[in-house]
Amino acid sequence: MKILVTGGCGFIGSHTIVDLVQNGYEVISVDNNSRSNPVIMQGIETILGKKIKNYPVDLCNFEDTRAIFQENPDIEGIIHFAAYKAVGESVENPLLYFENNNGSLVNILKCVDEFVIPHFVFSSSCTVYGNPVSIPVTELTPQQPPESPYGSTKQMGEAIVQQTMNSLKDQQAILLRYFNPVGAHPSNLIGEVPVGRPANLVPAITQTAIGKLPQMQVWGNDYDTRDGSCLRDYIHVSDIAHAHTLALNYLVQKKNQTNCDVFNLGSGNGSTVLEVIKTFEKVSGEKLNYVIGPRRGGDVIAIYANNDKAVNELGWTCQYNLEDMMKTAWEWEKKLAGK
Ligand code: WQD
Repeated sequence: MKILVTGGCGFIGSHTIVDLVQNGYEVISVDNNSRSNPVIMQGIETILGKKIKNYPVDLCNFEDTRAIFQENPDIEGIIHFAAYKAVGESVENPLLYFENNNGSLVNILKCVDEFVIPHFVFSSSCTVYGNPVSIPVTELTPQQPPESPYGSTKQMGEAIVQQTMNSLKDQQAILLRYFNPVGAHPSNLIGEVPVGRPANLVPAITQTAIGKLPQMQVWGNDYDTRDGSCLRDYIHVSDIAHAHTLALNYLVQKKNQTNCDVFNLGSGNGSTVLEVIKTFEKVSGEKLNYVIGPRRGGDVIAIYANNDKAVNELGWTCQYNLEDMMKTAWEWEKKLAGK
């Protein structure tokens, strides 16, 4: 079965292509590399021992997007990752985010409609919960106003998918809400390649440890958490990737309960920023050069997942713990630095 992965050169997209192919799917990718590095495709092809076709198309261009489906009438599923995801940048430039993230989603869904693509998986995010009313969050935890325009694009994206599925009769969707994807493929042939200075915690840690950044800041240690620093649910990118294969299987086997099922993809464990740093220092043997800085605007104080639904309904189990996440992230950073 042929699957189109959008954002296939991205962090989660690349790991998902590997998992899909290793589980018997045929995959093509579309990625204009505006926020990803095309070199990652070499890593994917080395792991798989086969070429993966990538269409370097901007999904905001409907005609170019539509042409992919005309050329590939046997596409039966889509996993839609392509989107900008820098929370800070979205605050600076909200219209860039609404145009890109929601504009590209509308174009893809117009093709789902016109070409009757039966299975659609949407890359959503725990950011839709905002600062949750209670933790751990389940899929039914009420959504709060999102902390950033990025979060708005994901909340709106979910509504766009849900309401489009309601208007179509032969198509089914799944929304996957990622918590904090980190780490790198165990082969060390693919991993996260941040564009510019990393906003996210784990690449900031590894780039500081390798010497690409002189020092990192912990954005606040005066929050109402067990050690004052923010709490998140870190999840290995390969565990996230495999959940996409299971979600597709779930749709193909018609196990879905509704035309747009939702799943939390988190480990179910919460870790604070300082605990992540301590774990990194333990597995790498490196002393991290960090200072406590001011709070970062838009940060959620604490969130982690109740992942029972994905475990029980998708048959998903997390294979990697926080030490594995730090170990693979560190090995990948050393690889990028040629060490
Ligand atoms: C985590 C914690 C920071 C950098 C991410 C993605 C977003 C979405 C949800 C997928 C926060 C602290 C960070 C640093 C720090 N993912 N931090 N110093 O904000 O939870 O959002 O997950 O959709 O796209 O951005 O992740 O890694 O940016 O921050 O102290 O140098 O680490 O303040 O408390 P976040 P993050």
